[in-house]
Amino acid sequence: MVTPTPANPLLPPGFTILALETSCDETAAAIVCDGRTLVANVVASQMDQHQRYGGVVPEVASRQHILALVPVLEQAMTTLPTGWENLHAVAATCGPGLSGALLTGLNAAKAIAWQRDLPFIGVNHLDAHIYANWLIPEAAAASPSPPPSFPCVALVVSGGHTLLALLTDHGHYQLLGQTRDDAAGEAFDKVARILGLGYPGGPAIEQAARGFQGTGSLPRAWLPGTYDFSFSGLKTAVLHKVQERQEWEAEATSAAPALGASPRRKPRKNEQAIAIDMPIDQFTAQVAGAFQESVVDVLVTKTIRAAQEYGATEILLAGGVAANGRLRSELSRRADCPVRCPPVALCTDNAAMVAAAAYYRYRAGLQSDWSLDVQPNLPLGR
Ligand code: KG4
Ligand code: ZN
Repeated sequence: MVTPTPANPLLPPGFTILALETSCDETAAAIVCDGRTLVANVVASQMDQHQRYGGVVPEVASRQHILALVPVLEQAMTTLPTGWENLHAVAATCGPGLSGALLTGLNAAKAIAWQRDLPFIGVNHLDAHIYANWLIPEAAAASPSPPPSFPCVALVVSGGHTLLALLTDHGHYQLLGQTRDDAAGEAFDKVARILGLGYPGGPAIEQAARGFQGTGSLPRAWLPGTYDFSFSGLKTAVLHKVQERQEWEAEATSAAPALGASPRRKPRKNEQAIAIDMPIDQFTAQVAGAFQESVVDVLVTKTIRAAQEYGATEILLAGGVAANGRLRSELSRRADCPVRCPPVALCTDNAAMVAAAAYYRYRAGLQSDWSLDVQPNLPLGR
């Protein structure tokens, strides 16, 4: 539920928002001033709890948020000299995300806002990722750059979503395209699991791909005439490549006593194919590298085309996969307009981005009422 309040384009300077984020596997609290200045940004990751399962377990995530929320909130609040008196509004992510996880942060934020008699603002997690681009990075605090300008094109690439959107003003979004199957981050996580690289997959793939020698490639799903994406075929191509190698290894092992170390069946080799008969570390690096190149090529090509078609003044990169160095550098290198990426720590889930999005939402005259519930499938811009 959204209650329109009179739009207030000029909130008083120093307007300070406390925000909570618990949509997935990070418990986060942040305090942001004037929608851009970081006062506190505390994130407790649950990575250790989920690692052994190879992915996020919703029930474990919910319990962990309950345990971590108060300490995280207390740590964020220590940065305010006069404590709660400094706050002007409270915000929390209301969706999309895991319902049990979202409930913790949303209800805590409502309770604080109610008790302090402050406005309460429910925030869309996808919008929040985009608004990480409004935050002034700590390293640039002395000479902040101006905020993003409209129209701009945003590429949101996270563990649960992959989409391209045109932003013509605060709160005015047009969805240009989205994934038809796996999200980009999900593909990174699944491919990392296939390659035995552990969880979370994105950073592990990026690390493994450092040894990529550019000698092989994997398919790209272009879906011509659309700004949609598809990564499941690519994931299957990786699976087949790994299975091909496993079969080759099995044959080599069973043939070993009679034939020495050499395999009976020669692997297929051509310039594009990834050879399966190299040392395992090298093989893993080639597959990880070719996978990363494929994802980055499609994301970058489509984003640049959208920016050109819609006359974007800049491109905003957002979401956990925006932490990927290859994606950041290729997009900046190939785009013919400025590209803005949040600092790596603000790409993955955090509450500072929620506070930034909440500021512009409240400034446009929107605030939520107490009936606001979690919305696990909330689409962008709602
Ligand atoms: O935005 P986020 O923190 O959570 C969601 O909203 O989903 O994104 C998490 C996703 C995971 O799939 C993770 O593997 C991916 O972001 N990720 C990366 C990198 N760091 C995190 N993907 C590629 N390269 C990275 N360096
Ligand atoms: Zn996220």
